[in-house]
Amino acid sequence: MSTGKPHTKQLMDNLQEGLQELDIHLEKSLASEVPIVKMMSAHLNLMKGKRIRPTLLLLICRAHNACGTSAIKAAVAIELLHTATLVHDDVIDDSDLRRGLETLNAVWGENSSVLMGDFIFARALNSLLEIGNPRLTPIFAVALDRMSQGELLQVDARHNRHITEELYFQIIRGKTSSLFGATTEIAGVLCGADDTSAERYRNLGESIGTAFQLTDDMLDYNGVSDVTGKPTGGHDLKEGKITLPIIYAQRIAEGAERERLTMLIEDPDVDSSWPEILEFVHRYGGIEYTMEVARRFIDEAQQNLELLPASEGRDAIEEIMEFILSREH
Ligand code: IPE
Ligand code: IPE
Ligand code: MG
Ligand code: MG
Repeated sequence: MSTGKPHTKQLMDNLQEGLQELDIHLEKSLASEVPIVKMMSAHLNLMKGKRIRPTLLLLICRAHNACGTSAIKAAVAIELLHTATLVHDDVIDDSDLRRGLETLNAVWGENSSVLMGDFIFARALNSLLEIGNPRLTPIFAVALDRMSQGELLQVDARHNRHITEELYFQIIRGKTSSLFGATTEIAGVLCGADDTSAERYRNLGESIGTAFQLTDDMLDYNGVSDVTGKPTGGHDLKEGKITLPIIYAQRIAEGAERERLTMLIEDPDVDSSWPEILEFVHRYGGIEYTMEVARRFIDEAQQNLELLPASEGRDAIEEIMEFILSREH
């Protein structure tokens, strides 16, 4: 998320200070006297993600000059909610690598990881409640509700070679866009938005979140594990997750080619068929199409950016939106 503009560089430096404060709060939020919780929390504290959701929240608050303790507590709540869902997601996806380190399930097993995920949810809610603003709680509850249903929908659609784009978008709106939407909506509410503009804030985050998941799904085809810090190279397909790059290739392919691709999707031995699958996806433009659609969502988000006063904060959000389209991690 680096930037060439000097004024924005200053902003990013300032933001880093905000993020250090966030790190301190995040660490405190996971404190416990229970030895296994302590160990797992210490491991999580080493696993630093991109912090894109709290960064968005803090930038919106900064654009409105409203970056007080409430903003930090809300940013902690959002990052913890995100972390909890990742802990559960890695159990569901049987992943052993996250943020360049071993996942909790790889070290402590699935049972402890599921329970640790619940504990992180509880601490996320605590941080939100400490703000004492009753308008925030339903936003948080709706996000958790939609995320759980999105993940469930995805589990149910595993290995479904007839998955449509419509169902795919329903899944990603649930599991990912909802949390980005809650992030920007909470920021809006903290900055004094009424219900109508709070909805526009949510739409802003939802579009950004959808683009973000599209690029994540693209990176499972085109990314490098050492850079993304998590498994790539067909991990989604191995787990039965049929995502837009291959859904599109399958839709465009015809006759024997389509049959072959469908057979490859169904093949449980993705490792050996991966080069052929990748070749198909590239040849039928699945990567370009996914990125084109991601661009459309970023353009949509752009329209809602006018909610924010022209400011360094708004410029930085625009840069984050561009980062999403060019990201390699
Ligand atoms: C990963 O999110 C889950 C998705 C929604 C694709 P991030 O890519 O934001 O994960 P971290 O926090 O940087 O590890
Ligand atoms: C996003 O989906 C997970 C959540 C929103 C919980 P993915 O399964 O694609 O995320 P990664 O790739 O494991 O980070
Ligand atoms: Mg996953
Ligand atoms: Mg993924």
